[in-house]
Amino acid sequence: MSTTNKTNKGQKRSVNQSSSPATTPSLLSNYKFWLASCLIIVVISFAIQRQTIDKTNKTATEKERLFTSDELRTYTKDELYLAILGHVFNVSSAPRFYSSTGGYKFYTGRDASRSFHTGKSTEEDLTDDLTGLNDEAVASVYDWLAFYQKQYPQIGKLIGRYFDANGAPTKHFQNVLVSVDHMKKKEEEKATFEQKWPPCNSEWSHDTGRRVWCTDKSGGVQRTWIGFPRRYFDSSLKTERCVCVQNSDKQDGRFKEYDNCLSTSNECRLPD
Ligand code: HEM
Repeated sequence: MSTTNKTNKGQKRSVNQSSSPATTPSLLSNYKFWLASCLIIVVISFAIQRQTIDKTNKTATEKERLFTSDELRTYTKDELYLAILGHVFNVSSAPRFYSSTGGYKFYTGRDASRSFHTGKSTEEDLTDDLTGLNDEAVASVYDWLAFYQKQYPQIGKLIGRYFDANGAPTKHFQNVLVSVDHMKKKEEEKATFEQKWPPCNSEWSHDTGRRVWCTDKSGGVQRTWIGFPRRYFDSSLKTERCVCVQNSDKQDGRFKEYDNCLSTSNECRLPD
């Protein structure tokens, strides 16, 4: 019995004594576990990244199919292709628009970017040349490009005005992007301006003439104040319009009172 006890005690002691050194292997195995996990994560992420790169390259290669205008011109029957700003799309899924009997057949087999702004199908409009169009008009063509990118498969680029023989964007395409960027900035500025000085409501009737007025949501700008109608000359658009101002804007020289209208009135009637 006593021997057993001793032995048990001894065993116990030996267990206790070895408890401190036992921590090291446990830490070590933890450490190994984490190291292994990290390695696995790195390997998996690398594999995923590789796949993504491969996919991207594949897409890039697919998108790099280059057409000459003569080639593009042949896709107006069974397969229907069109180009806009040098991007070629397969629009075969919509023959009701783009086949020889479709309402928009004049877009098929060519880059008629200009016509996407004018909406006309005359020879002068069925061109990719946007010379003379302002930023807003160029941006409207770019909006159509965005539409096609959402709606149809993009299958290549057209060598010419917007892409060179290597499929690289030309100065013309970069100019389009500059116009789009200008428009974006203008729209942002307009939105900021309208938040502060929202447009008035406006109506005209034969009997009473024109009336402008402010409400707490005129111009689509929901707010906690109503405001007073003022004439504002927009120098970039070179036009005058009615905006709603607050008391704190009354000294701002850009905003002029309407004739025969109280400065504290929320509406003004304008003589014809
Ligand atoms: C600059 C002027 C315009 C351009 C560039 C234009 C261009 C187009 C294009 C490309 C499509 C086919 C879209 C697709 O592939 O799904 C289309 C469809 C259509 N357009 Fe126009 N369009 C213009 C003006 C107009 C106007 C003024 C009207 C009406 C009076 C109109 C009525 C329609 C209609 C009803 C459709 C068919 C929509 C559908 O069935 O999904 N378009 N337009």
